[in-house]
Amino acid sequence: MKVSLSKPYVDQEIKNCVLEVIDSRQYILGNQCKEFEKEFSQFIGTKHAVLTSSGTSAIFLCLKALGIGPGDGVLVPSLTAFPTVEPIFHVGASPIFVDIDETFTMDPKQMESILKKGASGKGVKEIKAILPVHLYGHPADMDSIFDLAKQYGLFVLEDCCQAHGALYKGKRVGSMGIAGCFSFYPSKNLTVFGDGGVLATSNEEIAATCRMLRDHGRREKYEHEIVGYNLRFNEIQASIGRLQLKRLDGFNKSRRQIAQRYQDGLKGLPIITPDAKEWAQPVYHLYVIQTEDRDRLAAFLEEKGVQTGIHYPIPCHLQPAVRNALGPQPNLEKTERVVNKILSLPIYPELEKEKVDFVCTTIGEFFQGSG
Ligand SMILES: Cc1ncc(COP(=O)(O)O)c(C=O)c1O
Repeated sequence: MKVSLSKPYVDQEIKNCVLEVIDSRQYILGNQCKEFEKEFSQFIGTKHAVLTSSGTSAIFLCLKALGIGPGDGVLVPSLTAFPTVEPIFHVGASPIFVDIDETFTMDPKQMESILKKGASGKGVKEIKAILPVHLYGHPADMDSIFDLAKQYGLFVLEDCCQAHGALYKGKRVGSMGIAGCFSFYPSKNLTVFGDGGVLATSNEEIAATCRMLRDHGRREKYEHEIVGYNLRFNEIQASIGRLQLKRLDGFNKSRRQIAQRYQDGLKGLPIITPDAKEWAQPVYHLYVIQTEDRDRLAAFLEEKGVQTGIHYPIPCHLQPAVRNALGPQPNLEKTERVVNKILSLPIYPELEKEKVDFVCTTIGEFFQGSG
């Protein structure tokens, strides 16, 4: 049996809509994009959504629109995809890395002690923002994050690239901070069969600035009010995104059922399975277990046809691109420890029960053999 780590959903209606858009002769920021923005903002519960070329560019545009730049510090977890952090460098600001709590998301207690001490890190004059990541589809501890943000006057910009549709105390992630950024990369809970992203916000000014910045700094065709970029979205992918959005709640329900089946099937084995907080409705972008014997288990699963992943083997503060440029960082002990134990198991909406059971049985066999 072959079990892949993830698989984007495709059906005939989606294929047909691509052909229709090709025939429409309208390809960039047209009606499909407008409708998708409307539908996405309604889904998240914000006034606006601005489509962009990727999740990375959504974060970049928001940081720019917030005026974050040189001398500014941004609190961000180190256990995340490197693209969470790249835009902080691109606007000239500095990341201040924060360790994780038991949900794999940023630890507000440590953040509080960092903020009490004041600005830290090379070149940081003032801490300006918190960039929580709802990692693996589980929301971060937003109430504690907002308490700190209010106390210290910080923006909260949510990285929702792995958490389309997840709920924190009944609220959609991406609707709580000043803006929420999403990715449509093919493995994500909502995909457009290529790169793409969107930012959701109820702040008029941020929406308007991001709209201009993504399209050469203009509102009108030949009048450029600011110097911008080309980080636009396109009609074909918007039409795909609209159909995927209609199916998203169903996809997420299916991911939760698969997660439950894993949890039942892996019971009693010497591994830690992910635990959802009572205030969270996660969407299991990834199903991440922890084991001391991670590398041998991954090799065993591969031999049996089961694809796994590690998200992420190198935390951001240890990445070669930045590790020598960073000033002293807070203690990131949990992050550094967990990257040697985490293993992502296959999960996607159409993953069959038999395949989930096969993965569980195979993991059981591994521990029997090594026990
Ligand atoms: C947590 C997180 N942030 C940011 C990104 C960047 O998104 P994109 O690949 O669409 O630029 C990703 C996806 O790779 C991600 O998983």
